[in-house]
Amino acid sequence: MADLGVNIDHVATLRQARLGIEPEPVQAAAVAEQNGADQITIHLREDRRHIQYRDLEILRKTVQTRLNLEMAATPEMVKIAKEIKPDTVTLVPEKREELTTEGGLKLNKDHKSVITELKKAGIEVSVFIEPDLEMIEFAKEIGADAVEIHTGRYANLKKQNEIDKELERIFQAAKLVKKSKMRVVAGHGLNYHNTHKLVEMDIFEEYNIGHSIISRAVFTGLAEAVYEMKTIITS
Ligand code: PXP
Repeated sequence: MADLGVNIDHVATLRQARLGIEPEPVQAAAVAEQNGADQITIHLREDRRHIQYRDLEILRKTVQTRLNLEMAATPEMVKIAKEIKPDTVTLVPEKREELTTEGGLKLNKDHKSVITELKKAGIEVSVFIEPDLEMIEFAKEIGADAVEIHTGRYANLKKQNEIDKELERIFQAAKLVKKSKMRVVAGHGLNYHNTHKLVEMDIFEEYNIGHSIISRAVFTGLAEAVYEMKTIITS
């Protein structure tokens, strides 16, 4: 049965809109866990637009499931990860001007030393990449433990024939990740409608979902929003 990672960045986005103390991401993490989250995911960005260092520090002490830190492969972030020791680090690309993570990470030889250093610190390393077979083979070569396949393109497509083609690309990519003995994860742009098609593939071990859960929570409350998504991914 697949796990649900709930990304709580946008609870912090709302707090940062007033630079105040509410809503509290730590409280969101606890509610998410009580309602089926198997993991709490956060992205500490260089510009600190939502999650702050203090969130990471407190969440490390309070999260009862697993903590997944999304981060850029920079010396600053590697140092922070080694201090905090999340259960998993997901390496992502990061651009200051982007609204959200655009596209997967273009892995290169330099990522090998980052992966090695994090693994030496006892942290599982996942890489967030496009459903690209060559990139998946390279991820294996440089020591990644898991691959999170970027589902953003699938989520944005409108034409059925293009959606079907992208789903097939994602499926082939997921099969290669599994065959390569890495954990296979999906994330980005997933919501209460488009996640079903991925669940039908019966191949993903984890989904990381943020924006749609937090958006729904505005109307239903976070407990129900998490519970409903958990029901979808375990159906
Ligand atoms: N996975 C990764 C690696 C991400 O960078 C993000 C966005 O922060 C997500 C999943 C969640 O995406 P969304 O907020 O669109 O559900």
